[in-house]
Amino acid sequence: MRDYKKLLNGVNTLAIVCNQWGDTGKGKFIDYFADWADVIVRGTGGANAGHTISINGTDHIFHLIPSGILHDSFGKFNIIGNGVAFDPKIFSEELAMLRNHGIKYEGLLVSKDAKLVLPQHILIDQLRESNRNSKIGTTGRGIGPAYRDHYDRIGLVVNDLLNKDVLANKLRRNWDHNRIHFSDVVSKPRLDIDSVVEEYYAYGKELLATSMVWDTDHVVRESLSRRILLEGAQGNLLSIDYGTYPYVTASDCSVHGLAKGAGLSLKEVDLTLGIIKGFYMTRVGSGPFPTELGGEASAAYCNSGQVTKESELKQYGNLNINQTAGTLQAIAVRIAGDEYGATTGRPRRIGWLDIPLLRYSLAISGPNTILTKLDVLDQCNEINICFRYIYTGDTYCIGQKILSKNDYIYNAIMDNAVLQHCQPEYTSFQGWKTPIGDMQSYKDLPLQLLTILDRVSQATGMKPRLISVGKDRDQTIICP
Ligand code: IMP
Repeated sequence: MRDYKKLLNGVNTLAIVCNQWGDTGKGKFIDYFADWADVIVRGTGGANAGHTISINGTDHIFHLIPSGILHDSFGKFNIIGNGVAFDPKIFSEELAMLRNHGIKYEGLLVSKDAKLVLPQHILIDQLRESNRNSKIGTTGRGIGPAYRDHYDRIGLVVNDLLNKDVLANKLRRNWDHNRIHFSDVVSKPRLDIDSVVEEYYAYGKELLATSMVWDTDHVVRESLSRRILLEGAQGNLLSIDYGTYPYVTASDCSVHGLAKGAGLSLKEVDLTLGIIKGFYMTRVGSGPFPTELGGEASAAYCNSGQVTKESELKQYGNLNINQTAGTLQAIAVRIAGDEYGATTGRPRRIGWLDIPLLRYSLAISGPNTILTKLDVLDQCNEINICFRYIYTGDTYCIGQKILSKNDYIYNAIMDNAVLQHCQPEYTSFQGWKTPIGDMQSYKDLPLQLLTILDRVSQATGMKPRLISVGKDRDQTIICP
């Protein structure tokens, strides 16, 4: 039921972002709106993102290729914008995968200014993650070090792959600069820069041969009178500028960073749709998560490196979702929602919907919201939602404001020192206890679900626009 005409009336540029910690189902909605769009652009993140795409019945996970590419992309542009951290090796592997499956990728363009991820970035990322004091649970894809080099003014961009001398000079300079990270490491990594030059220049030749590298900012600007779909990555709460710093990724994955990384400014975005899961949340890696089911024990379990989807299914495959122990309920929701990282396979941490974080996030993305995965909670007896926190920490200054023990917090404060002392206060709602996957229209939705939706909307100013009740495109309900 893709009757989104009313929603997109007067819209030329549509942005799809996530209002939580990523993994809310952007891929489904990029695909959903791909029909409508002439140009689809990624503007942030890199191979840390992941979307699962089914080709001839087999699931494949892509990281860099925009999700729009597999939708009938004839006559459309799919663009990797200037703000993306571009790993040419992964990109080349993904192109090969497309070719092996006979999938055409005409119209796939890469910005000449996308930031290069190099082998040294991956080594540095992994080194940092191996140290307990600096670990933030990254995906290990070199994203942070690549963006840092950009701000350190020693980064390389895609265009450098096309000019061998420039590539060699810049790569050497970059490695000389980055070597310092390994000064205290006993077994130093061996990086043969001459081989890296050869390998990366070959990627450049491949890009040139397929005519992919362009000034895509210009292409996007020239397309402003057509229909542009901006494809977000990660989510506001992982944004380097807006997220739960330092437990964030290294790009501004809010709509602000997305517009810029696609070659536009925010004022050129006509409609932003921010996605949340209904009515739970997930996060991968470390960092505060006030409403986490099972709290620290669950986080430690998920981050132990020992748990995989297979091991969990084997041990808990038949677990009922209505568990009284938070750690067990988290496992049951994770299994029901298939909540395992597409890039790393890590189990995603699970928690109830957090309204203070949602209020914060809506202030960035605006009120128009897509709710996904509502079917995951179909069998829940009771759904808890946190409308405010009680602060349990010591007296703490937030600018001129003083936060004291037992204060209520209604709008999340992006400071780890505060977030880790936020005790959620929950309101319980009755679950709907009925499968909603086949429901076609808003008026079919169970009263219990609509009651929760109303309460969340009233408490936050959120405007629900679309509701996803299953994986398929057609399992999408347009809100009145
Ligand atoms: P990085 O982006 O690999 O540097 O990882 C930084 C943090 O962002 C870690 O907690 C990652 O788990 C998280 N992260 C990065 N990309 C994604 C994503 O696509 N979905 C969810 N979490 C992500």
